Amino acid sequence: MPSAVKTAVFPVAGFGTRVLPATKSIPKEMLPVVDKPLIHYAVEQAVEAGVERIVLVTGRNKQAMEDYFDIAYELDRSLAERGKDEIRKSVRDFLLEPGRVSYVRQMEPLGLGHAVWCARNLVDDGPFLVMSPDDLILSDTPSAKQLIDAHGETGGNVVAVMDVPREHTNRYGVLDTDNAEDRLPVVNGLVEKPDPADAPSTLSIIAHYLLMPEVFDELARHERGAGNEIQLTDAMARLIGRQPFHGLRFEGTRFDCGTKEGWLEANIAFALQRPDLSDKVAAVVRKYS
Ligand code: UTP
Repeated sequence: MPSAVKTAVFPVAGFGTRVLPATKSIPKEMLPVVDKPLIHYAVEQAVEAGVERIVLVTGRNKQAMEDYFDIAYELDRSLAERGKDEIRKSVRDFLLEPGRVSYVRQMEPLGLGHAVWCARNLVDDGPFLVMSPDDLILSDTPSAKQLIDAHGETGGNVVAVMDVPREHTNRYGVLDTDNAEDRLPVVNGLVEKPDPADAPSTLSIIAHYLLMPEVFDELARHERGAGNEIQLTDAMARLIGRQPFHGLRFEGTRFDCGTKEGWLEANIAFALQRPDLSDKVAAVVRKYS
């Protein structure tokens, strides 16, 4: 069934300094988890959730992603000639119809909020998704679908949240809420990267959001926040009280693939889910434990 949420925006313009040198000449979003790059999982999940339009906010040195979502003619012909039909199908099957994937350049990495603002002319007047491929979630239901369903219940903005250790609140946008234990906590306030002592809760936002289009008006102010970056959290915070705003304690396990240890853990967890690999990978894990 087509979704009321038509567009998903993927901010992929960051430098990925925490996973250097791997990201010196390939985009962070092209790092593979088992045998698919991070951007593949992210787009696949949005498509599974019924999203029509895919917008990638890219930057310099990110062309590999445009090639990934295009036909590779020489490879295709070579696989066909050698009768490698199954592999050929696997590299063609996820391609979307021409026109469904758009690209816009951020030009300068001024922050996540600025990256999202760059997509404003490619998003319609309705609610839309923002998903960073770094935040990979292993779940029965794609997080995009979980956000869309939650929006169906509450209306307005919905952000994916999880509890983090208090000493880590300075890495996240954190919720101020009176019902932190609920599945859909009501957001009273948002603070970007608070010191643990000042954090209003430990309920932290991961970079999967369903936002109302009014956030673009707030982003257009181009105000700098934490780290002197144009923060999405600050723009979202200005919508509180004007529109419904909820957190969603999503179902699933999240891996921060923007860090080396998170990316390695995701590879193990996803490989253990694969019927063709799980026994072999479990044996390897035991061997090195
Ligand atoms: P990160 O905070 O992980 O930044 O961005 P980064 O540059 O990618 O990585 P580090 O911190 O240097 O290791 C979170 C998401 O926002 C995007 C990133 O591509 C990532 O998906 N982003 C961030 C942009 O698109 N533009 C920006 O200016 C900043």
